[in-house]
Amino acid sequence: MTSTSENSFNPGKGPGSPVGVALLGYGTVGSEVLRLMTEYAGELEHRIGGPLVLKGVAVSDTSKPRAGVAPELLTEDAFALIARDDVDIVVEVIGGIDYARQVVLAALKAGKSVVTANKALVAAHSAELDDAAEASNVDLYYEAAVAAAIPVVGPLRRSLAGDQIQSVMGIVNGTTNFILDAMDSTGANYDDMLAEATRLGYAEADPTADVEGHDAASKAAILASLAFHTRVTIDDVYCEGISSITAGDIDAAKQAGHTIKLLAICEKITDKDGNQAISARVHPTLIPRDHPLASVNKSFNAVFVEAEAAGRLMFYGNGAGGAPTASAVLGDVVGAARNKVHGGRAPGASTYANLPIADFGDTPTRYHVDMEVVDRVGVLAELASLFSDRGISLRTIRQEEVGEHARLIVVTHSALESDLHATVEALKDMPVVKEINSVIRLERD
Ligand code: NDP
Ligand code: HSE
Repeated sequence: MTSTSENSFNPGKGPGSPVGVALLGYGTVGSEVLRLMTEYAGELEHRIGGPLVLKGVAVSDTSKPRAGVAPELLTEDAFALIARDDVDIVVEVIGGIDYARQVVLAALKAGKSVVTANKALVAAHSAELDDAAEASNVDLYYEAAVAAAIPVVGPLRRSLAGDQIQSVMGIVNGTTNFILDAMDSTGANYDDMLAEATRLGYAEADPTADVEGHDAASKAAILASLAFHTRVTIDDVYCEGISSITAGDIDAAKQAGHTIKLLAICEKITDKDGNQAISARVHPTLIPRDHPLASVNKSFNAVFVEAEAAGRLMFYGNGAGGAPTASAVLGDVVGAARNKVHGGRAPGASTYANLPIADFGDTPTRYHVDMEVVDRVGVLAELASLFSDRGISLRTIRQEEVGEHARLIVVTHSALESDLHATVEALKDMPVVKEINSVIRLERD
């Protein structure tokens, strides 16, 4: 599929017509969506050209006490709610993949426009979902799926549609940024901060998705697809999380004038044969403390876009939490509702470029290697030659005494990930290397 045809078969219900909404999920996000939809009802009606009318709220257990929703609107049967003739838009804020996929596909096939905040679903099944939306000539919106309140999907899909994007890079997971920021600024403990991020509603139902980088990888897949007009799924994204980052790593980064952030990096690279390919990756990354991303604290997110004509753009704001996410969901609801009332469709998927995905090993990266080595003459030269043998140039070497050994911190210039990885593996086999404390990638200044 390349792109959708706007206005082809949807004449609209006509100005003043009510737009029926089914809300699937009433947790952190869903409850805020309904609160704001109710509070702003009058304003939203003006913006849409017709009133939004809530037709039902699907949850997994209707017997739980729920504030803010009339009990008769609650149901455990999402499929029956979706199928109602008076439902025009389905808002999916349940999460997870399998069940969410079934309900979203059922909604699209039944001719309902869908708004979802579910990055895991979009990153795993975008082709199937886009095809279903296209076939039914309805909208599929997912602004909240990437960086919650920050408008980034819309700008990539619409505002930058006339430009050539080179890279999209940023902090796209609030939970891990909250944890890393607290470890860096107050010396807080990893587990305590994860519990706090969960309490505040930032973390996923299973926070493993946050700390192991899968949530950020889903967002990277979505960003790369939009930026490079190519289908990119979560399986195409190299992913490392923050669960192995220690207080020692944070201290070492500080001493070197750096901080550690979990970055999603999507870029167009030129492979060894001179062809363009996409690299999409998520990993803990050292950045200098004066880098603009270093000051993105707490659960905030920031996304940098570099485009040929526009130059550098930065999007910053609330990347998690009920109300910020609900803001993005409602923005999409307004867009989908306008189309239901006045006709037409939002721009759909654009995957015409179909660029290949680069192997992670073929991606240029930089390493920061912290190790303990035997403290004697010639060791430095021996280690340096291991790097130079693979054509890797060293940027800095810092040495400190630690007991009977020396602590050596080596920072490389950019080299192929596969060469850097092989060099670290070779270091592990050297008798003079007593311990590799950490290997963390470094982003350019
Ligand atoms: P929650 O776990 O807080 O809420 C999930 C809701 O889905 C609950 O109301 C639950 O019902 C309901 N649900 C679960 N299973 C079913 C089912 N089979 N049928 C009907 N309803 C069901 O999740 P969040 O609100 O935090 O997240 C929702 C989505 O938004 C996820 O995709 C998440 O990735 C995304 N998102 C979340 C952000 C955040 O900051 N929280 C930010 C951006 C996106 P019950 O209440 O009965 O348990
Ligand atoms: N769990 C996600 C985060 C929610 O921490 O960023 C926002 O997508």
